[in-house]
Amino acid sequence: MNSKDSLRVSRHLIDERDAAAATFARMNSLPVLDPQSPEARAIFHLAIVSGIIFTLIFIIVAGMIVYALMRYRWREGEAEPRQLAGNKAVEIVWTAIPCLIVVVLFLLTWQSMNASDPPAAATPDIVITGHQWWWEARYPKSGVITANEIHIPAGRPLSIRLESADVLHEFWVAQLTRKMATVPDHPNHIWIQADAPATYLGVCSEFCGTQHAWMHFLVVAETPEQFAAWEKAQLAPAKIPDSGSAAQGLAIFQEHSCINCHAINGTAAEARVGPDLTHFASRRILGAGVVDNTPANLRRWLTDPQLVKPGVKMPDYKFSEAQVTQLADYFETLQ
Ligand code: CUA
Repeated sequence: MNSKDSLRVSRHLIDERDAAAATFARMNSLPVLDPQSPEARAIFHLAIVSGIIFTLIFIIVAGMIVYALMRYRWREGEAEPRQLAGNKAVEIVWTAIPCLIVVVLFLLTWQSMNASDPPAAATPDIVITGHQWWWEARYPKSGVITANEIHIPAGRPLSIRLESADVLHEFWVAQLTRKMATVPDHPNHIWIQADAPATYLGVCSEFCGTQHAWMHFLVVAETPEQFAAWEKAQLAPAKIPDSGSAAQGLAIFQEHSCINCHAINGTAAEARVGPDLTHFASRRILGAGVVDNTPANLRRWLTDPQLVKPGVKMPDYKFSEAQVTQLADYFETLQ
């Protein structure tokens, strides 16, 4: 690719990225102020009640200071005011009131923590692993493995075990649950729940390297029937194309080192370094949200992943245009 082409592609990508960012912005303009689960509401209410208490303290303390400054300021011809030393009643009051506030905040926090973070279930519903820079989701009960798009049935709490494949990440879906770090060799646990079917934005909220900002994911809450249908579809092995461009794409995938990192159920590829691609085309985002998963963006990704997501662990294979077409044709069959 010459530099003029490369510039043109970059310009196009900036537009695409803006489009993806705008989608996320529209989806959740102020997610922390819009809780959509009992767990997130408990946290939200604690924030609001504490915020009111802090505001009142500020107004009272600042008001008393301003009053004292005005009332007792030095005036021409006035004698020095009467000097006092010690006042037991005042001392008791200004010790007791802050203690009481701390106790109230402690009780409110305790209540919210119990509501938002009950003890872990014996078997998690989902195991989520943070990678540089994407998320793997495994469903131990059914065997589904996917990436960057976590489906859940709405209306009931699900237990999640959080792991990390490399460094510290932080799993955060502001509308549905608390934040929790993924720590190498130290599984953590949270509960997630959504009141109603909808799609929620998740992000990584712990700086984890170059592409920390593009470690988004979607939580797709569905009716129990839709969720069961999704699980069934995800469990099906990938269809093997027997002829044409897609079949050539599969051959390229298997002949190159793609299979050293990716898995496609139904083929020889079963590595777990990169995202599972078995149902790649059913997912809405590409590169953990850096762009929407469209055929055009897929071609850009295959042509030069480093241009789409600088620093991404996927190398640039320098595929020819024909190879990119064949690979893209194959990946688009992975519904
Ligand atoms: Cu992962 Cu920040």
